[in-house]
Amino acid sequence: MQEKKSCSCLTRRQFLLGTGGATATIILTGFLGYSEGKTVALQTSRYPRKKIAKLSDLKQDFPVPFRYPHDHYNCTDILIKLGVPAEDGVGPDRDVVAFNTLCTHMGGPLMGAYQNNHKVLGPCPFHLSMFDLTKRGIITTGSATQSLPQIMLEVKGDEIHAVGVMGLIFGFSDNMEIAGHQGGGR
Ligand code: FES
Repeated sequence: MQEKKSCSCLTRRQFLLGTGGATATIILTGFLGYSEGKTVALQTSRYPRKKIAKLSDLKQDFPVPFRYPHDHYNCTDILIKLGVPAEDGVGPDRDVVAFNTLCTHMGGPLMGAYQNNHKVLGPCPFHLSMFDLTKRGIITTGSATQSLPQIMLEVKGDEIHAVGVMGLIFGFSDNMEIAGHQGGGR
């Protein structure tokens, strides 16, 4: 008779957000392409939950601006329904994603730089970097070397909530320690 095996595997989302079990602090070096010599601390379960929009209000390819995890210029983000499935996308078509809009190279502003034909954010007005919003904000061209921080989303009924950030926001040494930021704070 075969023995039944129970699976205690965590999904990538559960692992990064700490929703699969115990709260943990994870130190990652050279992981996910974010660090390039830096150590990125993903301190799970520290992020607030914030309602940012209704699924039914979203129009394809029309970005909705919001701020998360702080009400701070460096935390300016966009929520967007891409119309094509995306990595870590939410909603029935897995096509709703959110990203921070400061370029990871030197903080160039990417608000207003969405290109719906390629589903990218960019080019950055400073040094022309572009980021693919269907593939976790990976750099496609330009001077940046780190992916755009992706805001992790969850859907409850018709409500979309921000629940975490994957990647380090430009100007911060820790996404949740606003006192440590080096940005403009506009
Ligand atoms: S600041 Fe965006 S490419 Fe340099």
